[in-house]
Amino acid sequence: MSSAETFAQAGLEVVPTGAALGAEVRGVDLRRLAEVEFAAVLDAWHTHAVLLFRGQSLTPDNLIGFSRRFGGLDHAPVQEHGQSIVAGRPELYIVSNVLDDAGKPIGSLGNGEAVWHTDMSYLPRPPKASMLYALEIPPVGGDTHFASMYAAYDSLPPALRARAQGLMVKHDGTYNSGGFVRAGVTPTDDPRTAPGHLHPLVCRHPETGRSMLYLGRRRMAYIDGLSLPESEALLDELWSYATQPALCWKNAWRVGDLVLWDNRCTMHRRDPFDAAARRVMHRTQVKGEAPPMA
Ligand code: SIN
Repeated sequence: MSSAETFAQAGLEVVPTGAALGAEVRGVDLRRLAEVEFAAVLDAWHTHAVLLFRGQSLTPDNLIGFSRRFGGLDHAPVQEHGQSIVAGRPELYIVSNVLDDAGKPIGSLGNGEAVWHTDMSYLPRPPKASMLYALEIPPVGGDTHFASMYAAYDSLPPALRARAQGLMVKHDGTYNSGGFVRAGVTPTDDPRTAPGHLHPLVCRHPETGRSMLYLGRRRMAYIDGLSLPESEALLDELWSYATQPALCWKNAWRVGDLVLWDNRCTMHRRDPFDAAARRVMHRTQVKGEAPPMA
């Protein structure tokens, strides 16, 4: 069956953003998704890499339930001030700048910019998918931007593409995307010895078969086997292609939005927002079935 037929049969509408990635899926309630609808969502996700579902009304258990349809869930990453999770639900990661009555953050990443990254790629087997659900959003700022790593790979000049092939890149586990040191990590200035994991710089997506750049995050990255200056220069050159505006799409959040992204072939970043405003989001991460592979 073609994608159009699958969507029509499922009674849902998939509206591409018109950018290099992303589509809005209309006509679904993620609390009760029939098998035929889920099959259509999966199909759209593989095609567009990032899906936006507006107007959802999800309890933590609803979010976990929808997330589990994609596979087992990873526990939330340990963050700057220890684990920030919903009590009894270690899979739920709270992204928030809000402080509780004792002045302790209820979540991670604060109100500053979160720089470009792939979630938890410093692990040997990073999550294949992440979802972010908006409970409270600031009136201005806090938009989340996504970049297609397929398009990044395709945009490389042939010589640079050939150079990247076969190289391994270290994904740093020292800093989170908000610039905070992860709990329990002693920072070092040397990316070669920092905690993290090596993955192929050019990977093949296990479902679509497409090639993509797999960069993770810029800070403390290192290309294995190169001198530090050579590694820095090559990374700078690759990054100058990876996040060009033409490869990106952003979501200006509304309460009730759920965004699902393919963590294997995208990166994302978040705009800063006013510290006095409240932003509360719940995130889940679906386990990767295999390590990223060339
Ligand atoms: C994240 O990096 O998962 C959070 C992005 C956001 O706060 O929009």
